[in-house]
Amino acid sequence: MQPSAASAAFAALSALLVFAAVGHGLELTGRIMDMAKMVDKKCREETGADRESLKHWAHGVLDDHESFKCYIKCIMVQFSALSEDGVFVVEEELENVPPEIKEEGHRIVLACKDTSGADACDTAYQMHRCYNSSNPVLYKEVLLAFDIKIDE
Ligand SMILES: *[C@@H]1O[C@H](CO)[C@@H](O)[C@H](O)[C@H]1NC(C)=O
Repeated sequence: MQPSAASAAFAALSALLVFAAVGHGLELTGRIMDMAKMVDKKCREETGADRESLKHWAHGVLDDHESFKCYIKCIMVQFSALSEDGVFVVEEELENVPPEIKEEGHRIVLACKDTSGADACDTAYQMHRCYNSSNPVLYKEVLLAFDIKIDE
């Protein structure tokens, strides 16, 4: 094989392995997972979003209530990916991607980095809609892993 074909094959294989591993419930790590419980508590207190909203969202049930949009914004602000007034900080969001899914996660973040909304809460919401559109399978896995951390 030519080197480029070999590396393309390797990349495809790596992606498959990541999906296989995640599909079997491999634990995701990194700062968002480490701080999930604390940040969720703070953001629910701040926005009034209820505990079930994130679970429903992870399972693909859309929720565009202001409280939930602002919950996503609060989460992003806590993880330094968004400023209070809704400016996306791409370098920080790249750091938030769990190391186990770094390559595909970075692709998704970069694909969505220019997303914006009507205000800061809407920008956060639209950004997450974009992440999901870019890779619904992986997005769901990350959300489910985050949700499990909250319950631990
Ligand atoms: C994610 O995308 C899937 C597939 O298009 C869709 O069914 C689901 O509702 C979406 N979830 C969110 C939270 O956007």
